[in-house]
Amino acid sequence: LSDAPQQDEVIAAYKADIGRLIDEEGYQTVDVVSMVPDHPEKAAFRQKFLEEHRHSEDEVRFFVEGQGLFTLHIGDRVYEVLCTKGDLISVPANTPHWFDMGPNPRFVAIRLFNNPEGWVANFTGSDIAQRFNRLEN
Ligand SMILES: [Fe+2]
Repeated sequence: LSDAPQQDEVIAAYKADIGRLIDEEGYQTVDVVSMVPDHPEKAAFRQKFLEEHRHSEDEVRFFVEGQGLFTLHIGDRVYEVLCTKGDLISVPANTPHWFDMGPNPRFVAIRLFNNPEGWVANFTGSDIAQRFNRLEN
């Protein structure tokens, strides 16, 4: 990939893997999300998913570059999952979780959706996320 790959380049590079996941899981749409440390709105983007929330569909991400910290709250346990290049994560629908891209975010991730309209963050109102680790660089 180039230094700042555009969506089409990323999807073309991972075409075979994307196709396999679509065949296996039935995803309907695919896109690419990326963030760089000099993004002018990085703080706002980081803040957006820092508190505990749920989605009505699976949150599926394949990390092509960089990193991000998913934290999953399942029952009375909390699991921190640092995703880096080559990692595929699927946060099951309705699982309380939060995501931290860090203060100097850098990542490129492929998103796969069963139903993109279902991917709305429903915040639980809990402050639990504030009591766990943040991603620091
Ligand atoms: Fe989420």
